[in-house]
Amino acid sequence: MIPAIAVRRLDKRFGATRILRGVDLMVEPHERHALIGPNGAGKSTLFNLIAGAARPSAGRIELYGADITRLAPAAICRRGLARSFQTTSFFAKLSVFDNLRCAAQIANRDRMRWWQRYTATREGDEHAEQVLDAVGLGERRDVIAGTLSYADQRALDLGLALASGAHTLLLDEPTAGMNRAEAARAVELIRAATAGRTLLMVEHDMDVVFGLADRISVLVQGEVIATGTPDAIRADPAVRAAYLGDIGEAGDAARGAAR
Ligand SMILES: Nc1ncnc2c1ncn2[C@@H]1O[C@H](COP(=O)(O)OP(=O)(O)OP(=O)(O)O)[C@@H](O)[C@H]1O
Ligand SMILES: [Mg+2]
Repeated sequence: MIPAIAVRRLDKRFGATRILRGVDLMVEPHERHALIGPNGAGKSTLFNLIAGAARPSAGRIELYGADITRLAPAAICRRGLARSFQTTSFFAKLSVFDNLRCAAQIANRDRMRWWQRYTATREGDEHAEQVLDAVGLGERRDVIAGTLSYADQRALDLGLALASGAHTLLLDEPTAGMNRAEAARAVELIRAATAGRTLLMVEHDMDVVFGLADRISVLVQGEVIATGTPDAIRADPAVRAAYLGDIGEAGDAARGAAR
């Protein structure tokens, strides 16, 4: 099977410092894959490279088999990979619905000829309505985006990625800054929104990681030291030695809750 994302022997240097050291990472189509590791391990740097926001020093990145290593962010986005940012990426003065409609129409624009645009607009609006419900913002439809709560802003961010037609999503710490209840809601949203899509997410909250991920990769000092199912990662001695965090307890707690 062709991986959704294939990262091969990826290196990134900043000056003399080698931040990523021969990273290999395979994300299967339709899997939810979590990337975990200590602060400064290189997780966000890896996301930057995959999304095209920075260039690798060496190595190769493929999206469904196509080489995207040297493509610009917009070109990668058009190929169906969307990334959510920690900073807000929407129009603060537009309504929630108008934001989603914009994203849907921009996604359509490149594919449509002028004589198809009227239909495209209607389809874009319908798509925006579906996304609105998918991210649980139906009741906030006409609210000005800038006035949304933090958790709702993150939901809108996710919605923009979906409205753009992305089949592959990169989420960097999607529940950072949320309380327990908001994080639990975000997990359910992400689970629903990524059904039939591919997810690669960076996350420090082990309840979120173990609640969502089909597989986990562990990045330590710029190297992937393990990839496997949540059970395998929890039991991995190298992971426990290098990056214990609260992985054991949180993983067990998440498992207990799922029972
Ligand atoms: N533009 C840059 N120039 C120089 N060094 C950088 C740059 N970007 C990141 N780094 C360094 O690369 C290392 C990895 O940073 P990165 O942000 O990728 O870590 P991370 O795994 O995402 O950490 P966190 O969990 O804290 O978000 C850090 O030591 C950081 O200081
Ligand atoms: Mg980071």
